[in-house]
Amino acid sequence: MHYYFAPMEGLTDSVFRRLHHQYFPGVDRYYMPFLSPTVHRSLSHKEERELPRADSVDFRAVPQILTKSPEDFLWAAQICRDRGYDEINLNVGCPSGTVVAKGKGSGMLRDLDSLDAFLEEVFRKTPLPVSVKTRLGLESPEEFPAILEIYNRYPIRELIVHPRVRKQFYNGDVDMEMFAYAVTHSNNPLCYNGNLFSLAQIHSLQTRFPQPLSVMIGRGLIADPGMLSGGTNIALLERFMNELLETYEADFGGSRNAMFRLKEHWSYLHTRFIGCERLWKRLRKTTDVSEFRAITAEIFHTLPLIEPKKVPAE
Ligand SMILES: Cc1cc2nc3c(=O)[nH]c(=O)nc-3n(C[C@H](O)[C@H](O)[C@H](O)COP(=O)(O)O)c2cc1C
Repeated sequence: MHYYFAPMEGLTDSVFRRLHHQYFPGVDRYYMPFLSPTVHRSLSHKEERELPRADSVDFRAVPQILTKSPEDFLWAAQICRDRGYDEINLNVGCPSGTVVAKGKGSGMLRDLDSLDAFLEEVFRKTPLPVSVKTRLGLESPEEFPAILEIYNRYPIRELIVHPRVRKQFYNGDVDMEMFAYAVTHSNNPLCYNGNLFSLAQIHSLQTRFPQPLSVMIGRGLIADPGMLSGGTNIALLERFMNELLETYEADFGGSRNAMFRLKEHWSYLHTRFIGCERLWKRLRKTTDVSEFRAITAEIFHTLPLIEPKKVPAE
C-alpha cells in the first residue's frame, strides 16, 4: 500500500512538506496544494517558491493543477516536467463556491461532455502522466457511475477518489458503497481519500479492499503527523512545531503571519490532546506571539496525547 499526504491549501506548503518528511518519514508522495494557472502564463514569486525543482528535495511531490482549460493544464504540465516532476494531478474535487461557479474543481462534474473533452485534449498531448483527484458528484453519489465511465476512457495514472459529493464539503459520511463501486468498475489504479484518522482505520480499509490500493490522508496526518512513522511522540512533535514556526518566521519576515499559519495546524492538532479545550480557546484567540508560544508549551508539557486505537494483530 502506498501512503500519500493530501494537498491542503494553507497547510501543506513547501516548508511543511520538507520538515514533515524530515521529522516523520513514511509518506510515499506529497500532493501539493493546487496551482491555478492564469492567462498570463507565468508563475508568481510565491508559485515559483512552491514549485521547487523536484530534485531539490529528497521525497516525491506531485504538483496539482486547478483549471478547466486544457491549454492551461498542458502549459502547467510542461513547466512541471521542466522542473523534474514525474506526475501531475488534476483537481476535480475543490468544493469552494467561487471555484465551482467557474466550472473548476468539482464544478467540472457538472457537465460531463466538457469533462470528457478536457480529458481527451489533455491525454492527447500531456508531457507527463496525469492523476485525477475527484469527488463522487456535485449533489448525489448516484452521479458517480457516469463520471467513472468517462475516467475509464483515459489512462489515468491513479484515480484518487474522495467519496463525498461537492455539497458535503468535508463533512458528513463518506460513501463506502460508492467507493466499492469504483473498486469493481475502475479501469485505472485507485487511491482512497477521506476520514482516515488512524492506522487502525487504514487497516480496516485494507481488510475490506484487499486489492492494490493507495491511501491519501489529509486532516489525520495534520493532527497526528507521526501516524505513519510509529506514532507521534510529544517531544518530537514539539520540536517539529517549533521548527515550523521558526522557519515561517524567517520566510514571512515576521511572527504574526507565522503564528496564524500555525493556528491552522493547531485547529486539528489540539483534538489529539486530552483536556485541551480551554487552552485551545486561548490559543485561537491570542494575537500575541509570546503568548502563543507559552500556550503551546503548556499544552506540550502538561497534556497527554490521546492513544491511537491499536491495529489488530494479524
Ligand atoms: C484546509 C483544507 C485545504 C485543502 N486544500 C486542497 C487542495 O489544495 N487541493 C485538493 O485537491 N484538496 C484540498 N483539500 C482536500 C483534502 O486534500 C482532502 O481531500 C480532504 O481533507 C479529505 O481528506 P481527509 O479526510 O484525509 O482530510 C483541502 C482540505 C482542507 C480541509
